[in-house]
Amino acid sequence: MKKQKNYSNESALSDEFTEKNNILYSKIAKGYDILIKVLPIWNNWNSHAIPHIEGKRVLEVSFGTGLLLSKYASNYETFGIDYNPKMVEIAKKNIRDKGISAQLLQGNVESLPYNSNSFDTVLNTMAFTGYPDSLKAMSELNRVLKPGGKLIMVDINFPKNMNILGMLLTKFWILLGDVIRDMEKVFNHFDLDYTDKEIGGFGSVHLYIATKSSKEVITQQID
Ligand SMILES: C[S@@+](CC[C@H](N)C(=O)[O-])C[C@H]1O[C@@H](n2cnc3c(N)ncnc32)[C@H](O)[C@@H]1O
Repeated sequence: MKKQKNYSNESALSDEFTEKNNILYSKIAKGYDILIKVLPIWNNWNSHAIPHIEGKRVLEVSFGTGLLLSKYASNYETFGIDYNPKMVEIAKKNIRDKGISAQLLQGNVESLPYNSNSFDTVLNTMAFTGYPDSLKAMSELNRVLKPGGKLIMVDINFPKNMNILGMLLTKFWILLGDVIRDMEKVFNHFDLDYTDKEIGGFGSVHLYIATKSSKEVITQQID
């Protein structure tokens, strides 16, 4: 097999891509909820995000059925948004059953209904590779973060050392429809400082921690 990081071509994607996935998520939402509850590996990967949460106000974008959210939400003022109404419904029930409160909404990452500079931490797990337009999505994730705030992402990408198993796993996700980007370019576009740690799947599961520049705060103070 030729080892090459062939990033996906986004330009062919559109709102139809989101709608197609949305129809699929509506069909599989119940099964998805059960599967991730019994699949410890998925849980383990996503749970890497929790120790990095900072501050009081936390937003999780694309929370799915809310499994990760239910693990940290009671410690923060927690907000969440997901595009799929069925996922939102199940997540609301899941957190209600656990006696946890969080403000969950249905909505699109490309137009988040929150004020700019309003969250200390934004979480996003196993979802970015399912958005059609990386710059639109990252622009919104970045906008709602406070200066100095943290964006914590868990997602699929090629392993840095391009080992065969990790490359095969990433290609498997691409076959399933995931859109793999050069995340360095995406973070740099928004001047986000970031770290990229491989946390599983032979290097194909990455934990990104990006920090929004606090330049805006300094400028405001000088003004
Ligand atoms: C693979 S699931 C991941 C769910 C959860 N974060 C997890 O790790 O189990 C992807 C989620 O992204 C949501 N999603 C897809 N497109 C979205 C969009 N444009 N805006 C917000 N959420 C979206 C889907 O509804 C789905 O719940």
